[in-house]
Amino acid sequence: MKQLAGKTTIITGAGTGIGKGIARAFAREGAQLVLASRKTERLEETRAELEPQGVKILVVPTDVTDETQVRRLFAATLNTFGRVDILINNAGRFDGGPLDELSLEAWQKVLAVNLTAPFLCSREAMRIMKRQGGGRIINIGSISAQMPRMHSVPYTTTKHGLTGLTKAAALG
Ligand SMILES: NC(=O)c1ccc[n+]([C@@H]2O[C@H](COP(=O)([O-])OP(=O)(O)OC[C@H]3O[C@@H](n4cnc5c(N)ncnc54)[C@H](OP(=O)(O)O)[C@@H]3O)[C@@H](O)[C@H]2O)c1
Repeated sequence: MKQLAGKTTIITGAGTGIGKGIARAFAREGAQLVLASRKTERLEETRAELEPQGVKILVVPTDVTDETQVRRLFAATLNTFGRVDILINNAGRFDGGPLDELSLEAWQKVLAVNLTAPFLCSREAMRIMKRQGGGRIINIGSISAQMPRMHSVPYTTTKHGLTGLTKAAALG
């Protein structure tokens, strides 16, 4: 028996890198996948790789920093699969440089993807999971939450914040 058979799993940033790797691993364990990020063509590449293996996949192009689009992502998931068992907040953004040279725009963009998006997605997931009687939310952190690299103020700040979000959300 596969460990995640029939588990509906939303993965943000599932068209590249770690998110795509997570999609492959969850597919192997029998999960049905909802792939979300901004670039449809990347998500479709992930779908094209995994669907022939018999995996049920829904692609929902989503900017996870946008509240309306996040609501649409969860509504589309419920519409297709009827539940949300696992949410993986993987989408991430890096920007950095010496603190005195950082623009407010760069700072805000990193905060939006690395902190606001996990909040928005977790809030939608929590509402559904409470109704269902359970679920799992997995936030992809970073070693930067323990050991900052030089010139990484926005990224390091958000990964520390994500640890806080994870711990506080776990309390309900
Ligand atoms: N690579 C590492 O060494 C490393 C180490 C520790 C932690 N991490 C963490 O792992 C996660 C994945 O990183 P990665 O290395 O795989 O990087 P990546 O390949 O650049 O992936 C980032 C993903 O986030 C998505 N994304 C960015 N902004 C988005 C938005 N506004 N809405 C929806 N999706 C958005 C991108 O898709 P679109 O462009 O299509 O939107 C992309 O698929 C991140 O949280 C990162 O902090 C990475």
